[in-house]
Amino acid sequence: MIAADALSAFESLSRDKSIDDEALFEWRVKNRPVGNVTPDDFEWTVGDIPEPGDGEVLLKTYYLGLAPVMRFYMQGTGAAGERVLQPGDVIHGRGVAQVVKSRHPDWREGEMVQGQMGWRTYKVSAMTDQEKFFRMPSNGLPAALGAGVLGMTGLSAHAGFFGCGDPRPGDLMVLSGAAGGVGSMVSQMAANVIGCDVVGIAGGPDKCRFILEHGCSAAIDYKSEDIGERLDALRPDGIDLYFDNVGGETLEACLDRLRMHARIVLCGSISEYTRDVPFKLSNYTQLRRTDSRMQGFFVYNHLPRWNAVMDDMTGWIKDGKLQPVQDIVDGFQNMPRALANLYYGQNVGVQCCSVRGEPDEWI
Ligand SMILES: NC(=O)c1ccc[n+]([C@@H]2O[C@H](COP(=O)([O-])OP(=O)(O)OC[C@H]3O[C@@H](n4cnc5c(N)ncnc54)[C@H](OP(=O)(O)O)[C@@H]3O)[C@@H](O)[C@H]2O)c1
Repeated sequence: MIAADALSAFESLSRDKSIDDEALFEWRVKNRPVGNVTPDDFEWTVGDIPEPGDGEVLLKTYYLGLAPVMRFYMQGTGAAGERVLQPGDVIHGRGVAQVVKSRHPDWREGEMVQGQMGWRTYKVSAMTDQEKFFRMPSNGLPAALGAGVLGMTGLSAHAGFFGCGDPRPGDLMVLSGAAGGVGSMVSQMAANVIGCDVVGIAGGPDKCRFILEHGCSAAIDYKSEDIGERLDALRPDGIDLYFDNVGGETLEACLDRLRMHARIVLCGSISEYTRDVPFKLSNYTQLRRTDSRMQGFFVYNHLPRWNAVMDDMTGWIKDGKLQPVQDIVDGFQNMPRALANLYYGQNVGVQCCSVRGEPDEWI
C-alpha cells in the first residue's frame, strides 16, 4: 500500500477522539502487527485517573517519543527489559511528564521527568529503576526535547557515534537514515563537533535538501539513485566511518568501500524490519581485508552515562553546534499515525507527539 493511502487510514482511527484532564486515556495493543502497523492494531481506552499510594507519584504526560522499536514491542519482542506486551496491554513508550501528586519522599510536585510512561495520559509510578526516570533540569530549553533530542534518541546518537564510531577530524563518513531522529543528530555532531566530512543518505529530494543544511556536505537520495554508484563518485577513496541506521543493501554497499581501519556503527536496520525473509549480509569479510571493525550497541546499556551525555548535548544546543530537530505530531489521539510515519518515511528529525504542549511552569 502506498504511504498516502496507508496513512489516511489512520485518520478515521483518531477522528472522534480527544483527551481532557478528567480521565485517563490510553492506547493498547489490539492485534500484533504483521508487516507494518495498521489502524486495526491499536485500541483506545478511557478510564479513571489512578490515585498514588504511599511511595508513589501521579505523573501527567506532556510529550511522548516514537521509535521504530515500538512495532516490535507490539509484536511481543524487543521490550528492552520491559514486560513483554500481550494484546490488551498499554504500549511501551518513553515520554515527558510532570509530577502532579507525590507520596514519594524523593519526588516533588511540579518536577518534570522523562522515562517509561507508556502510551497513556497519566500514570501512577513508584519510580522504580526499571522505569528509568530522569529528572529534567529547568534550563530554559523546551520540555519537548526530553522526548527526543534530550532523551533516548539523543543518548542513542551520542553513544553510537562517540562510543562505537571512534570519530576523528577529517573522517570520510557516510550516514544512512540521515534525516531521521538519530541521523539528524549524528550528522551535526560529526560535522560541527568533530569535523568529519559527512555524506548523508535519505529518501527523497526534500530530505536531501534538509540534510545538506544539517551537517552533510553531500546527499544521496536512495529512492532515486544507485547508492553504490553515488558512493563511488562522492567517496572515490572509500569510507572511514559508516553510521548505519538502515542495514540491508546500504550496509552491504558501504562494506564494499571501506578504507583501512574503518569503523562501522550498527545502530539500526529499519530497511529490514518489515521483511518476511531476513537480509543476509554476504560481504562482512571486507572487514578483515581492511583491518576494520563493525560494532553494535544497545542504548539501554549506556544509561550510566546519561548525565554526561545530556550535559554535552545541552551545551552543543546552546552554542549552536546542534540544532534540535523534532517532528511533533499534535494530539495523543494521533500516536498510531505517528508510529506509522516512521515506517513510511514521513518524519524529519525525531518523531514525537505533543499530548498537552509545554507545561505552564516546572520546578
Ligand atoms: N541501537 C540502539 O539502541 C538504537 C536506539 C535507537 C534507535 N535505533 C535504530 O536506529 C535507527 C534510527 O532510529 P530513529 O528513532 O532515529 O528513527 P528514524 O531514523 O527517525 O526512523 C524513521 C526513518 O527511517 C527511514 N526508513 C524507513 N523505512 C526505511 C527503509 N525501508 N529503508 C531505508 N530507510 C527507511 C525513513 O527515512 P527516509 O525517508 O530517509 O527513508 C524514516 O523517516 C532505527 O533503525 C532504530 O531502530 C537503535
